[in-house]
Amino acid sequence: MSLLRAEGLTKSFGRTHALDGAGITIREGEVVAVMGPSGSGKSTLLHCLAGILPPDSGTVHYRDHSGSDRELTSMNDGERSELRRTEFGFVFQFGQLVPELTCLENVALPLRLSGMKRKDAERAAKDWMARLEVDAVADQRPGETSGGQGQRVAVARALVTGPKVIFADEPTGALDSLNGERVMHLLTTAARETGAAVVLVTHEPRVAAYSDREVVVRDGRSRDVEFAR
Ligand SMILES: Nc1ncnc2c1ncn2[C@@H]1O[C@H](COP(=O)(O)OP(=O)(O)OP(=O)(O)O)[C@@H](O)[C@H]1O
Ligand SMILES: [Mg+2]
Repeated sequence: MSLLRAEGLTKSFGRTHALDGAGITIREGEVVAVMGPSGSGKSTLLHCLAGILPPDSGTVHYRDHSGSDRELTSMNDGERSELRRTEFGFVFQFGQLVPELTCLENVALPLRLSGMKRKDAERAAKDWMARLEVDAVADQRPGETSGGQGQRVAVARALVTGPKVIFADEPTGALDSLNGERVMHLLTTAARETGAAVVLVTHEPRVAAYSDREVVVRDGRSRDVEFAR
């Protein structure tokens, strides 16, 4: 059964047709790699799918924790941001951690924003940092970590709330291949353990190899490449 399903998405920026009828289906717990040339619309697709960017037309259906079908484009901004905060996790190319906070405070932040007590939030954050093998940098600020450590902190932050879907846009794009593999291994292992689905945008076949399935985007249109690994 599908967890997230987009159909007929179009999105233009001025005269650029970034999406031209793109669709994608994500099933519960699967890791899907979104591939395609630069400028083909991968990030735009991910942003529409995650309710960050409203498409010009088309629909995005999400089945929430209670099993209710929700249509993202018909929700208001408040409902969409609530959905993102409670059911989705995000990892971008450059961690986008808060520079003034320690790594531990960064990972605890989504829980604090949901109203959890500091002690409980930091305990959960520590646990995730250990799983991502970054507990050693807990008290450092993001600027004092390596690129690979920073991305693993960002992955811990994405996972700490127990999301149903992780959206990752080129999470290894700024890392060397060894660190990239480590991030991918830990991200996909954690996602499989928790049952989170992963929508992974990447250029790199080596990164896509961690997925169950690939979707190729070309000129704003997407095509499922169904094959079992
Ligand atoms: N905010 C924006 N304003 C104007 N044009 C945009 C904007 N975002 C994307 N575009 C354009 O839409 C098209 C698709 O962009 P998108 O970022 O989705 O591509 P991509 O497949 O993610 O590329 P890359 O692999 O380089 O990240 C491109 O032509 C891009 O220039
Ligand atoms: Mg992109």
